[in-house]
Amino acid sequence: MVSDPFDTVVVVDFGAQYAQLIARRVREAHVYSEIVPRTTPLAEILARRPKGIIFSGGPASVHVDDAPSIDPAVYRAEVPVLGICYGAQLVAQQLGGEVRRTGTGEYGRTTMTRAGDSLLLQGLPPEQIVWMSHGDAITAAPDGFTVTASSEAAPVAALEDRERAIYGVQFHPEVAHTERGQEILKRFLFDVCECRPTWTNSSIIEQAVEEVRAQVGSERVICGLSGGVDSAVAAALVHKAVGDQLTCVFVDTGMLRLNEADQVEETFRRQFQVDLVHVKAADRFLAALDDVLEPERKRKIIGETFIRVFEEAARDLATESEADARFLVQGTLYPYIVESGGDDNATIKSHHNVGGLPDDMNFELVEPLRHLFKDEVRAVGEELGLPEEIVWRQPFPGPGLAVRIIGTITPERLEILRNADAIVVEEIRRAGLYREVWQSFAVLPAVRTVGVMGDGRTYEYPIVIRAVTSDDAMTADWARLPAEVLERMASRIINEVPGVNRVAYDITSKPPGTIEWE
Ligand code: XMP
Repeated sequence: MVSDPFDTVVVVDFGAQYAQLIARRVREAHVYSEIVPRTTPLAEILARRPKGIIFSGGPASVHVDDAPSIDPAVYRAEVPVLGICYGAQLVAQQLGGEVRRTGTGEYGRTTMTRAGDSLLLQGLPPEQIVWMSHGDAITAAPDGFTVTASSEAAPVAALEDRERAIYGVQFHPEVAHTERGQEILKRFLFDVCECRPTWTNSSIIEQAVEEVRAQVGSERVICGLSGGVDSAVAAALVHKAVGDQLTCVFVDTGMLRLNEADQVEETFRRQFQVDLVHVKAADRFLAALDDVLEPERKRKIIGETFIRVFEEAARDLATESEADARFLVQGTLYPYIVESGGDDNATIKSHHNVGGLPDDMNFELVEPLRHLFKDEVRAVGEELGLPEEIVWRQPFPGPGLAVRIIGTITPERLEILRNADAIVVEEIRRAGLYREVWQSFAVLPAVRTVGVMGDGRTYEYPIVIRAVTSDDAMTADWARLPAEVLERMASRIINEVPGVNRVAYDITSKPPGTIEWE
């Protein structure tokens, strides 16, 4: 739980894919929001001292057996309630209204018409487009409620009881397709709940800094840097909190992208003046990967070698300073905490970010990002002064370029891939597409093909360009890159990277392909 500088709005998750989105929208309005499972006892919800409670949508019907429900005492707790979709039907049903399977559901864009005076919908036009997704509909509002809007298949599209501060909307105000959705949420947050809009980047940082100081005291802290955004922002926050009590360890596996190690050095050592241990372990990784072809073995070897190198660095630090670091920084984000069911979960596996640290390392974890969504982490990173290239970096797999080299990994093949990859990324940036595509990179297959360059025959490697769009990496589509961008990449790679005589573009979606080639 976050304390006093922020008012809290609790989102009760009724099994919707929308709960996280609701919490994010609330936070975009600068009000702190937490998600709790619907099974959370009411006393526990109220112990968070919420200024408001939002019931999310859910896939169920209120009429099925075991339909998710909530302790009706919530309506007497004197905390404003907003039910969304299933949440609105639950409100109606629990308070004596009527919810029916009408036979005509609404899915998608729907025109909604206002009726009468409403606190929640004030200032909105008589008709507007909202996003609906329901089979059942509220057909009669409970006593004490006013119906404030309707649509063709939802006679009660919005209802409110101002006296008790209980509101319900059949549509989804949190999705972008509901034109004035954010305004409606804001009415609830500010006019109904009277929340303060204090959840801003600078106050998030201030609060995190205080929490880290309180947790760590004067002890030493270590943080593994990966070059990715989460560990970088976590390190910058902890550094702001405890300065030179922090030592960062950056393991250079030799499988990194061009200039990546330099950039970490530049940012953390020179810009932030963090005590940084840069372990140059490329030879060790290459030796361990010698002649290894099988993708899963590559991953295991890299994971294990990483752990050993990190452990050794931590041990060296302890000997040097005579005081063991007791704390280890992890860049764990809020969605991970929600999914693993709670924030008092101190045993979160440490492999989450640093690539598989052993359980017997005996560190207490410091997780300064555990309240934040990814977009908030990026905003905080920018506010802390981290460079754009780190804050907006595309995801990169822990085993690095190793899973993009099919077959044997040698220094020469790494060099080819690294240079080709740099051109792909540079051209994507130049075309202004870097943030739009989820990942864009080069792959080096194990085959060679015949070509002709100048007057001579060549027999060299192809490079495969892979660029995908995605929301979460679970599914992905190949990016429709403009032909001119592909052409520029191809001709630059062939002209500038020795050892390559052909370029192909991967047009496989996921599924059936994966994003990475190994
Ligand atoms: P795939 O290839 O499975 O990748 O479609 C999904 C996402 O995960 C990344 N990825 C990894 N990340 N360690 C990581 O930290 C790994 O071993 C690993 N393998 C894949 C990949 O880049 C994509 O974003």
